[in-house]
Amino acid sequence: MQKEKHKSATHREFGLHYESLIADPRIDQARALLAEALEEQRSKIDAIRPPDPELIEPYQAKLARLASARGGAPYFPYISSGLGNGPFVQLGDGSVKLDFIVGIGVHGMGHSDPRMLLATVDAALEDTVMQGNLQHDESSLLMCEKLIGLARQQGAKLDHCLLSTSGAMANENSLKIAFHHRAPASRVICIDNCFAGRTIALAALTDRPAYRSGIPAALDVDYITMFHPRDPEGTTRSAMEGLHRLLDRYPGQHACLWLELVAGEGGYYPGTAEYFKGLCSLCRERGVLIIFDEVQTFSRLSRPFAFQHFGLDEYADIVTLGKITQVCATLYGTGLKPKGPILSQTFTASTASIRCGLAVLDHLLTKHCWGDDGWNMRRHHYFRKRLEAIAAKYPGRLSGPHGEGMMIALTPGDGSEETAKKVLTRLYDEGLMGFVAGSNPTRLRFLPPPGVTEESHIDLACDCIERVIRTL
Ligand SMILES: Cc1ncc(COP(=O)(O)O)c(C=O)c1O
Repeated sequence: MQKEKHKSATHREFGLHYESLIADPRIDQARALLAEALEEQRSKIDAIRPPDPELIEPYQAKLARLASARGGAPYFPYISSGLGNGPFVQLGDGSVKLDFIVGIGVHGMGHSDPRMLLATVDAALEDTVMQGNLQHDESSLLMCEKLIGLARQQGAKLDHCLLSTSGAMANENSLKIAFHHRAPASRVICIDNCFAGRTIALAALTDRPAYRSGIPAALDVDYITMFHPRDPEGTTRSAMEGLHRLLDRYPGQHACLWLELVAGEGGYYPGTAEYFKGLCSLCRERGVLIIFDEVQTFSRLSRPFAFQHFGLDEYADIVTLGKITQVCATLYGTGLKPKGPILSQTFTASTASIRCGLAVLDHLLTKHCWGDDGWNMRRHHYFRKRLEAIAAKYPGRLSGPHGEGMMIALTPGDGSEETAKKVLTRLYDEGLMGFVAGSNPTRLRFLPPPGVTEESHIDLACDCIERVIRTL
């Protein structure tokens, strides 16, 4: 009987040839060989190293070609060799950097993790290179279900998930859903110092005049005061008063309150539960929808979502995320399902990025990155303690640290952009990669890859920081 059943399963006339393909032992063999070869090479990348003298000249030539082709030099003279190992990456000149910015929060498992290679191989076996609204396969379904499951775990009513190729597109979709639901309301409320992305509409939200220079204003945006730890009560009160004033001045005209719970590009300023709850409950009372932009915060605090970290689940009407998941997404509740065809895209993401994103989520869970005493918060406290010790040792040369979880920043010297850029470049030369954030003051920020950053990596980063700070 058993035998008969087996026979009918393997010799069926119909069935899925794709399943037979991925079960083919030759493919398993190929996977094992690829992983073995990768391990052999990546294991050699295990410390900061200077460039190989023989590679410097051709590397400089490649950088010049890149600058010419893209219409400007990249911020760092960075062209990856194609290989790294955890938080280390080898560049095309043979140097190895400790990468604590990972493409602004993208390499969730650090560099060249074999699970990413295997996820990409699985994706390559699928027919579809780019998933889209007319061509989903199972990887899109799994990603949507996974994100919805994580988002709902403390009770948020987020039922649907729309994938997209960039954080900006996820935010565009979030605004469309909000405007559509609240039509004809056309205004948006944001917080001072926010960053939403680089489309024309999002440039209107982003509180950086230089980022919209020469670009016509696409939306009417009103701003309220950002929470500041130097004056928690004053800034919370001012934001509430400002919100009351705006809602009274433009009755029924605001579609949404759009919030970053830790200002990312703005310089790593987290708000507090009290600050956000006041704003959200007033908006809820007035029917204004609440959008949490988690494109940078997702996965980096004590919970998968920052709105969970701050206990704001009941207010999450629409949530966007991206970066570490390799594919971006807009989550929303059933009550906000659009009634017309306002949302669609030829491409939602590549199959490889979705499969890699699933591998990252799996890694974050198995490494226990979340929880009050999870990997993220433990590493945060360790990094914070080390930076505080450096700040105490060199008064006036470093202030902070700032930020939350695996988003950490410091202010070098006088807080000017010039000093921050100088320190950043010197850190790069020392072998540590971070990035700038905010203005007045300009800070240095770090987004170490969660789940692979060990205390020894933080020690190495702090040694670089101390070497640079003490000569400032
Ligand atoms: C908070 C926030 N929203 C949106 C974006 C835009 O994402 P993307 O660059 O993928 O379009 C970013 C990117 O840095 C971000 O930090």
